[in-house]
Amino acid sequence: MKPIVKRVLKGVGGVIAVLAIGGGIFVKSKTSAFDDSMDLVYDVSLTQVPETTDAEVIARGKHVVEALGGCTSANCHGADLSGGKPLVMGPVCTLIGPNITPKGLGALYTKAEMVRLLRHGVKKDGRSVRFMPVQDFNWLPDSDLFAAVTYLKTVPSVDRQNDATEIKTLGKILDRNDKFVVDVARRIDHQKMDLAPPPTPTADYGKYMGRLCIGCHGAHLSGGPIPGAPKDLPVPLNMTPDDSGIKGWTYEDLDALLTKGLRKNGKQLNPFMPIENWSQMNETEKRALYTYLMSLPPLPFGGR
Ligand code: HEC
Repeated sequence: MKPIVKRVLKGVGGVIAVLAIGGGIFVKSKTSAFDDSMDLVYDVSLTQVPETTDAEVIARGKHVVEALGGCTSANCHGADLSGGKPLVMGPVCTLIGPNITPKGLGALYTKAEMVRLLRHGVKKDGRSVRFMPVQDFNWLPDSDLFAAVTYLKTVPSVDRQNDATEIKTLGKILDRNDKFVVDVARRIDHQKMDLAPPPTPTADYGKYMGRLCIGCHGAHLSGGPIPGAPKDLPVPLNMTPDDSGIKGWTYEDLDALLTKGLRKNGKQLNPFMPIENWSQMNETEKRALYTYLMSLPPLPFGGR
């Protein structure tokens, strides 16, 4: 080999080696930052939940769990709350919502611990819950969280074991780069909670309702592929009033989408979007959501 070629090849090899080592250091620093953060024990005190068997409170709890929390969706804790369908996201993670009926985690958690989990994303052991999108619904007032945990203690027990959630290297890196939320408690300001006003069919309340959609549609609600998601996972669409989104939609159009999964273009919505939950929203909630979405600045599709 001519010396010059040799030198060039050596140079290229050197660059590759430097990149590989650099990449290795990058991956290691991200994954250890993730692991260290997940080991943090948060000092958040418990709030006692009033004892009640009031039917109205339990009915409100069911509404919060199903229509707002989306807890019963297939990929979360499942229709009977005994555990969700595994959401397999290739090199990112496999997410499996556990059994939260009184035979499952419901047996381990007190109501006060369950409220702390729903408000702060902090588990029984004080560490962050993984992935469960607490930040999207922890605007619910105490009375709603109390109702939800009171209801959860009344659901039928299901004896079912679930496999464990697994967060892989790419999932850890995406979390540290804010592309995907696994480390939930790190994102929550535990000193200052932003709670919703009482429900009204206005954008003021709709702003909070809209947070229920962020996990899939993105912080700006303009949709696009979920980072790291496999190709076969449907892509959340644009729900801002842009041409590529819901410009010109009436309240009835949004209602048909949320209750029947019927899209304005006549097609059926992919069942990955949990309308089994959203269809139970009441009219005040749906009108609030509609008014808020229509008040958003139109954004092009895909910016998330
Ligand atoms: C679990 C993920 C997920 C959540 C949570 C979710 N969506 Fe979606 N959404 C999707 C997917 C995926 C699509 C595209 C489905 C398809 O192509 O059929 C979609 C599509 C849409 C569309 C576009 C429909 C059309 O015909 O153009 C609207 C509007 C929408 N969602 C509203 C909402 C609202 C409002 C919420 C919150 C209450 C919400 N979504 C929560 C996944 C989700």
